[in-house]
Amino acid sequence: MDGKSSFRLSIPDRQSMSRSIAYLTIIIVLCFLLYDYCWGPGYPTSPLDQHYAYKGEKITWKACGDIAGRKLECSRIDVPMDHFNLSKSGGFNLPVVRLRGDDGSKNLWVSPGGPGVSGVAFLHNRGEKLATIIGSRFHLITFDARGINGSRPQALCYPSTQVRKSLSIPEFQPIEYSPEVYAWTKNFVQGCRDTMSEHGLYINTPQTAADMNTVLDALGQHEMFFWGISYATALGQTYATIFPERSHRIVVDGVVSNFRWYEDPFSDSGSLQDAERVLYGFFEECMKAGNDCPLSVLADTAEELQDKVLSFAGKLKEPVSIYINRSQWGLLRSEDLIYTALFGALYSPATWWSVADRLNKLLQGNATEAFLAWGSKGPYADWLVDEALYFIANNDNPSGPDHWPQDRHEFLDLVRPLLNESLFSPAMHLSSYKRQQWLIPKTHDFRQKMNVKTAHPLLVLSTTWDPVTPFSTTGSVLAAFEGSQILELEGYGHTTFAMPSRCVAKHVRAFLYDGTLVEKHTKCKVDGPYFMRPDQDVPRFIDSDDEAIYRAQLQIARDGF
Ligand SMILES: *[C@@H]1O[C@H](CO)[C@@H](O)[C@H](O)[C@H]1NC(C)=O
Ligand SMILES: *[C@@H]1O[C@H](CO)[C@@H](O)[C@H](O)[C@H]1NC(C)=O
Ligand SMILES: *[C@@H]1O[C@H](CO)[C@@H](O)[C@H](O)[C@H]1NC(C)=O
Ligand SMILES: *[C@@H]1O[C@H](CO)[C@@H](O)[C@H](O)[C@H]1NC(C)=O
Ligand SMILES: *[C@@H]1O[C@H](CO)[C@@H](O)[C@H](O)[C@H]1NC(C)=O
Repeated sequence: MDGKSSFRLSIPDRQSMSRSIAYLTIIIVLCFLLYDYCWGPGYPTSPLDQHYAYKGEKITWKACGDIAGRKLECSRIDVPMDHFNLSKSGGFNLPVVRLRGDDGSKNLWVSPGGPGVSGVAFLHNRGEKLATIIGSRFHLITFDARGINGSRPQALCYPSTQVRKSLSIPEFQPIEYSPEVYAWTKNFVQGCRDTMSEHGLYINTPQTAADMNTVLDALGQHEMFFWGISYATALGQTYATIFPERSHRIVVDGVVSNFRWYEDPFSDSGSLQDAERVLYGFFEECMKAGNDCPLSVLADTAEELQDKVLSFAGKLKEPVSIYINRSQWGLLRSEDLIYTALFGALYSPATWWSVADRLNKLLQGNATEAFLAWGSKGPYADWLVDEALYFIANNDNPSGPDHWPQDRHEFLDLVRPLLNESLFSPAMHLSSYKRQQWLIPKTHDFRQKMNVKTAHPLLVLSTTWDPVTPFSTTGSVLAAFEGSQILELEGYGHTTFAMPSRCVAKHVRAFLYDGTLVEKHTKCKVDGPYFMRPDQDVPRFIDSDDEAIYRAQLQIARDGF
């Protein structure tokens, strides 16, 4: 599958509505930005046929690769259909993967965003860098949560990829084509219910939280050590609320409010509250960087630069055609520039130099590189994501007839104003007809409690200016968990993986290894400049460990976590 074109496609989709979908869309956007770990190369099949078992563990591992000299181990585990009613028959079978640290280490659960992202792919693609940042005194472990990718059954709404291709539509301009999208969705949600039957009822975050304990129990480890990013902060908080006595080290990075995730149909309103501040930061830092930012030659001030780029984007309402050769041509549209290029850049400041370079060439008259990075085939193209994320988000958030007017006009009246909240709002309001018409009833009554007392307080990470999980949301985590503390990375981007900071790495290590919590609201600085050519030498460090951590962080910041 071509990840780039999928990402582009998510844009027209986003003309759609519904606030409650926001965090879901964040994650979708994330997926497309961070193509590699969402839909990138899958797990290598093992060339070896070796099995491992460890004392105290009730699980058999198979060798499934090697990452920088560390063994990668794979297994599968059965989890019950419904952890909260064990008399329900059936269940799921999930792939589990572990990157080994030093022998005798505890297992640290690492969880990517989503929902719908494969943890297994995440560990394969980012495990080496994560292990460098975290150090060798943990094994890193994760799984494909129920419904996701390697899960059996997998959460789907079509009987085959072929049928998905033939029946799915791009939800292009859901305001303009509202009657069609609305009517199409009625069939789609029925397909979801029919395809998954009973399993569809139990694909949700509280069940996934309990599944993590099934894995821990098989490892003979009582205490949960967890680092979750973006949507996985909802998972981490859900776990810590249901199993406070097992929550020994919970790190949540780039946080979602669980109060809103589970209870507010408009939970995503406000999620973009800082997005424009990050956009301005891009232009401001560019001017500060001077010659190190290719775009700075175009203006004298940040305001002027922003105006130039945005008005250029406006002109692309009349798209330009780019013809490279007979097998590679297409369009560059206003939407491509605003949602794919600029909105995408807000997540990852470590890519700002490259973004500025392409924009500079584009504004100076050469659209080739911009097209290759952000261009599109036009409004209609295939939308090929699988459906796990709809099950998870719609089974968690208030969805369906109990929470949404089923009349199309009433629904539009509710969501139309949301499209005006930010320049990027249309990119966030994806798939809301699915939310509105979702047919699968909620089978859990999880609600985030206040003042939960966990075995150890939570460490809450956030950048100062996060485009999709604003810093202000950290307040909801403090309210939910007694004694939790904030570590703020003073900078831009989505989660603390957005830019290197050895200060963050040191605090996270101290927390994970020794339980040392930061003093009340501690701040860390970003290491290194925002505008750095990809081929530029990294700074030298006296300490080789520091340098390794910096390089690993920089790599993740550039590639996406
Ligand atoms: C998902 O699972 C399939 C096997 O069912 C595998 O081939 C593919 O690579 C996996 N994708 C990811 C992103 O892990
Ligand atoms: C648990 O599941 C069984 C089997 O489906 C059902 O009969 C029973 O009512 C359920 N119990 C609760 C408390 O929902
Ligand atoms: C078109 O251009 C692309 C990249 O520039 C190249 O990979 C491809 O082989 C070219 N195709 C033809 C038919 O020339
Ligand atoms: C435009 O940029 C591309 C890629 O950088 C380059 O190959 C091409 O020669 C440029 N076109 C012109 C007219 O300068
Ligand atoms: C957004 O606001 C503008 C003016 O403030 C208004 O003209 C437009 O209709 C609004 N759009 C939506 C979708 O509400």
